[in-house]
Amino acid sequence: MGSKVLIVDDEKLMRISLESQLRKEGYDVKSVDNASDGLKIVKSEKCEVVVTDLRLSGMSGMDFLKEIKKHNQDTVVVIMTAYGTLESAVSAIKEGAYDYIAKPFSTDELIIKLQRALHHKNTDAEVNRLRREIQAEFEFCNIIGNSEAMKKVIETVKSVSDRDTTVLIRGESGTGKEKIAGAIHYHSSRRTGPFIRVSCAALNREILESELFGHERGAFTGAVKTRRGRFELADGGSIFLDDVDDIPLDMQVKLLRVLQERTFERVGGEETLCADVRIIGATKKDLLEHVKNGYFREDLYYRLNVVPITIPPLRERKEDLSLLINYFLKKYVSQYEDALPVVSQEVINILLAYNWPGNVRELENVIEHAVAFSKSKGISIETLPEYLRKVDIHTDLLSMDLSDKQMINLQDALTEVEKKLLQWAHQKTNGNQVKMAEILGIPRTTLRNRLIRLQLFEKTLL
Ligand SMILES: Nc1ncnc2c1ncn2[C@@H]1O[C@H](COP(=O)(O)OP(=O)(O)OP(=O)(O)O)[C@@H](O)[C@H]1O
Ligand SMILES: [Mg+2]
Repeated sequence: MGSKVLIVDDEKLMRISLESQLRKEGYDVKSVDNASDGLKIVKSEKCEVVVTDLRLSGMSGMDFLKEIKKHNQDTVVVIMTAYGTLESAVSAIKEGAYDYIAKPFSTDELIIKLQRALHHKNTDAEVNRLRREIQAEFEFCNIIGNSEAMKKVIETVKSVSDRDTTVLIRGESGTGKEKIAGAIHYHSSRRTGPFIRVSCAALNREILESELFGHERGAFTGAVKTRRGRFELADGGSIFLDDVDDIPLDMQVKLLRVLQERTFERVGGEETLCADVRIIGATKKDLLEHVKNGYFREDLYYRLNVVPITIPPLRERKEDLSLLINYFLKKYVSQYEDALPVVSQEVINILLAYNWPGNVRELENVIEHAVAFSKSKGISIETLPEYLRKVDIHTDLLSMDLSDKQMINLQDALTEVEKKLLQWAHQKTNGNQVKMAEILGIPRTTLRNRLIRLQLFEKTLL
């Protein structure tokens, strides 16, 4: 069956002739002589295109148009106008009509308009669908976490998104920096503008400069065409500078100028361009440490760090695990399954004990893996990736992430480990000190002294 077209016109002859000619062309046509009947059809059947006269008895064509758009934005409306009423056609287009056709017109003329309208409808609907899908990804309901730390992150996002404030997001790999950056953009007044991401780590110096600022034709060997940079592409929207710590020192000056004056030039260009963008930076590093070591300009650091957002690693907010696990289960379990699979206690123990160096991304991959191997039978230990099956639920006790540390106080670290081991022994023996001393291989008096020194557990329990 061809595309569904509804014709609304109070001239009977016009209606009949259009209906029969369009039907010959393969369209699925209906026609009525007033807007209220038209609206009933629009609401009950899925019309792709409505061709309507503006001057109708009863509800006016203009009100009809507004009602159609209220009901379904995606319905394409073509307006028929009588000679000399172009003004009203212009108003109709402002109200969301796609096109107009001036009476009298030939059927061929209308068919061309219809074809164009349908093509436009398809691409437009597709763009809208994609846009809705992308926006949904960054809705607050899709940013999971009710730990204090995540609540604070989300609160900050809510309070800064609508201003043009520069934000610097810090967090290990996979903690959700890009997700938070997207949430800031899609909750700002720039949401309909572009959200452009640049990975400063992935590109070498020359490429990065022309990637960010663009270049003029002939600026360097190989620059055969003028090219717009990401700052230009992000015009009216936001730019997300990922791994911003990796920008070489000499280019940091250029970025500083964009932050201060919102101006820049293309590589090899003389014209000064204006950057109407909101800047969101992200880093996995301790940027202040980079400043101290002379790798990062101090002035740029302060310009970027206007609103800092730190996303803690997953191992420091394990209270978020159960919500995240559920969220990813819902995401990966087939929509045809009735209920979410049951996760075994053994699996929960492993997921809780594990250190999650790859953070939320790693957890998402693990759940996807588990769902794929669960075959609707629930999430048991066999469904986990090999490396997790071997996790001793107590080994995590001693693991410590040193990748981001420049210094570590040995005494403090040892005390921390000692505390954790004592807690472990306490848990394992239900606080029985004779057994605790035994499994720790120390005399009972030593154990007591240590417990007192470390102020572990209530004195009355000792
Ligand atoms: N709080 C969260 N709720 C739901 N999904 C999350 C959350 N945090 C991260 N994710 C998901 O985890 C994955 C990794 O997140 P993202 O790409 O934002 O991390 P990142 O910090 O930018 O990582 P990298 O430093 O490696 O670029 C994505 O699929 C993202 O949707
Ligand atoms: Mg990222």
